Amino acid sequence: MCGIIGYTGSKNALPILIHGLKKLEYRGYDSAGIALLSQGSIFIEKSKGNISNLERKLSNIKLTSNIGIGHTRWATHGEPSDINAHPHTNSINTIAIVHNGIIENYIELKELLEKNFNIKLKSETDTEVIAHLIDHLWNGNLLSTLYKVTQKLTGSYALSVIAKDDPNKIIAVRKDSPLIVGVGENENFIASDIPAILKYTKNVILIENNEFVEITKDYINIYDESGNSIERESIEITWQVEEAEKENFDHFTLKEIHEQPKTLKNILNHNIIKNKLNIQNLNITEEELRNFNKFYIVGCGTAYNAGLIGKYIFRKFVGIDIICEIASEFRYNDPIIDDKTLVICISQSGETLDTIQSIRLAKEKGAKILSIVNIIGSSITRESDYIFYTIGGPEIGVASTKIFTCQLLALNLIALEFGKLLKFLNDNQIEKFLKELQTIPEKAQTILDNTQKIKDIAHKQFQNENIFYMGRTLDMDISFEASLKLKEISYINSFAIGAGELKHGTIALVNDKTFVVALSTQDKLIEKMMANTKEVKARGAKVLAITKETLKFPNDCCDELILIPNTLDIFTPLLSIIPLQLFAYYVSTFRGNDVDKPRNLAKSVTVE
Ligand code: F6R
Repeated sequence: MCGIIGYTGSKNALPILIHGLKKLEYRGYDSAGIALLSQGSIFIEKSKGNISNLERKLSNIKLTSNIGIGHTRWATHGEPSDINAHPHTNSINTIAIVHNGIIENYIELKELLEKNFNIKLKSETDTEVIAHLIDHLWNGNLLSTLYKVTQKLTGSYALSVIAKDDPNKIIAVRKDSPLIVGVGENENFIASDIPAILKYTKNVILIENNEFVEITKDYINIYDESGNSIERESIEITWQVEEAEKENFDHFTLKEIHEQPKTLKNILNHNIIKNKLNIQNLNITEEELRNFNKFYIVGCGTAYNAGLIGKYIFRKFVGIDIICEIASEFRYNDPIIDDKTLVICISQSGETLDTIQSIRLAKEKGAKILSIVNIIGSSITRESDYIFYTIGGPEIGVASTKIFTCQLLALNLIALEFGKLLKFLNDNQIEKFLKELQTIPEKAQTILDNTQKIKDIAHKQFQNENIFYMGRTLDMDISFEASLKLKEISYINSFAIGAGELKHGTIALVNDKTFVVALSTQDKLIEKMMANTKEVKARGAKVLAITKETLKFPNDCCDELILIPNTLDIFTPLLSIIPLQLFAYYVSTFRGNDVDKPRNLAKSVTVE
């Protein structure tokens, strides 16, 4: 939530900041702004709406500057407006600040500033108090002043600050919100995430919690919270610049849906060598695994939905039951955890605050953490005991698509590894499963090659306000993800339900305007699903059935049929979600929505 960028170097800062903001726009896009230090004063421009509004306002600006900061906002305190947009300043405009996170004690600080120092705040944000506090505690040195200021803050923050009276540098600090430094030649960068700086450098330093950074054109200094200097090597990012570009696709979301054969193949190639499991970096031993007697999966949104499928996967490949919980619930429902508990945490960004807080809680109680994460070096990975990287490259569309299938594949591979270590599966069984998994990328491609049929169905249904999903077991949980995809990018009030549960209440909603997507990919449940589709058809609903090529789903049970290639039931979620991602995408585009940046959402949810 919210993206921050900072540049100091020999080039003109403004286009670099704007480029960075565009690459961070997935983190929030209700307003944006920049601050530039130029000829002894700070120039600010900000605007409600997306970055192009800001660009329009800046189109006639003549000033050049080599140092500046920028921000793209996802509103928490105060509506999206020019005034609430960042950067925020002190009263005399000598300090400018951008912030990602939430200052929990800002009301107290605001009252202190207003009562004791007669400072009138201009915005409704929690951030503005920081700019005034810096001013109030100013000692001529921005870094040491910021040390004093952060002692007064509670909450989460990644801050980037420039000051007229300590020019030529940007000071940044992080607590529970992501921050990286881009290392350039005669230039350096601060950013919330890698795509913002990838065009200029692939060398990145990851900033840890409670660390302060001072960057100038020529040097980068990192300090811990006591002011001790920290030496840290940069890491080289292996992403290609094109991975963060749309290329020939209309939207990142569509590009990312189409990347799935490639991303799945990458994970398989990375973790299977000569038909044998060779899970990279997981480093969990049989002894460690045998110590656990309780297993949780936690995550939010799409990551949680992947976890739901994880339950079946672990049952099948490890013979254990696993409890899957939404991270924001897990935190507050007193889970029973001790040092014999393994918590598997799933997160694309590795920065979702509820997920981070869940693993902290579990660790405090002695649990070990295995994280399935896409972003290398993200906060969650730094607090985990075991890590599986989904290596899916940047996912820029706000709705998660390719990383969902990467997470499913990760769960399969981890469970197979556990099954092997615990001798629940023998080598032959594992080999058979791996062989089948290796066919999945090609099968995913077959589905993508048949996009036109899904597009046609989406065209018929895009004005429908009643699109429901149902399935049983694995298919029910994929229904949850398919419905979430549709909701978030099309704004249709959709829901998903276990098909057997329908007649216990929800069928009351079904009428001749309802479109029901029935997932029916499992041999053992086909007849039950046929009965359920007949029930909704009898009430006038139209039905799209998603089933496997080898299953016979009769014509009188559905109006539309999408066939996915045959595979083992346990692997069908890797395929069955793909046509439904495409369906959601096309419904959204036919409705004229901004698919990559759906309203009210942001990609990385770093607030609670
Ligand atoms: C939905 C979506 C969100 C995220 C959720 C968790 O398409 O993207 O539901 O899955 O916010 O995010 P991560 O995986 O970054 O922890």
